[in-house]
Amino acid sequence: MRHIAGVETDDDEGHGLLVRRIRNGTVIDHIDGGEALNVIKILGIVGATTEALSIATNVPSKNMGTKDIVKISNRELSKEEVDRIALIAPRATINIVRNYRVCEKQGVEIPTVIVGNVRCPNPGCITRTNEPIKSRFDVLPDGKGLRCIYCDSVITKDLTSYII
Ligand code: CTP
Ligand code: ZN
Repeated sequence: MRHIAGVETDDDEGHGLLVRRIRNGTVIDHIDGGEALNVIKILGIVGATTEALSIATNVPSKNMGTKDIVKISNRELSKEEVDRIALIAPRATINIVRNYRVCEKQGVEIPTVIVGNVRCPNPGCITRTNEPIKSRFDVLPDGKGLRCIYCDSVITKDLTSYII
């Protein structure tokens, strides 16, 4: 990528998709092409939002073919907060930006539990009744799936369709 006057370009000609650099916040880079909206969802940003988001999807990438980028201005998401992204985009990079500079850069790691945000597939599960109980899943080895700690239901495919 080449940076020109505060924007980034995806090619040397300087045209193509432009995504403005942010002053402060979190940039989630190297998301698998097409997964940006699912990444936002698993962060719990759904419906009407006050977040200042910039999203680029299916940007050409040397290493990944195509990639998505999500920028969240004015908020530094902790690594713990974003680690659940590893289930969707294991190659994602978390960049903390302060005053236009990347101050921290880290990969994502598969968490051991996921609390909230994911709905148990079992309609009879206690987390789907009117009880005030948040869903809670153990993450299976290598992030290959999620197991509900209440009813043992397992999600191995289409995780994103269970995100609330
Ligand atoms: N970025 C941004 N605003 C800034 C600084 C950086 O939006 N003020 C974005 C960049 O556009 C890039 C990501 O944050 O998508 C990481 O920036 P940087 O580390 O400068 O880019 P690279 O060196 O290309 O990152 P990597 O080595 O992780 O590929
Ligand atoms: Zn359950």
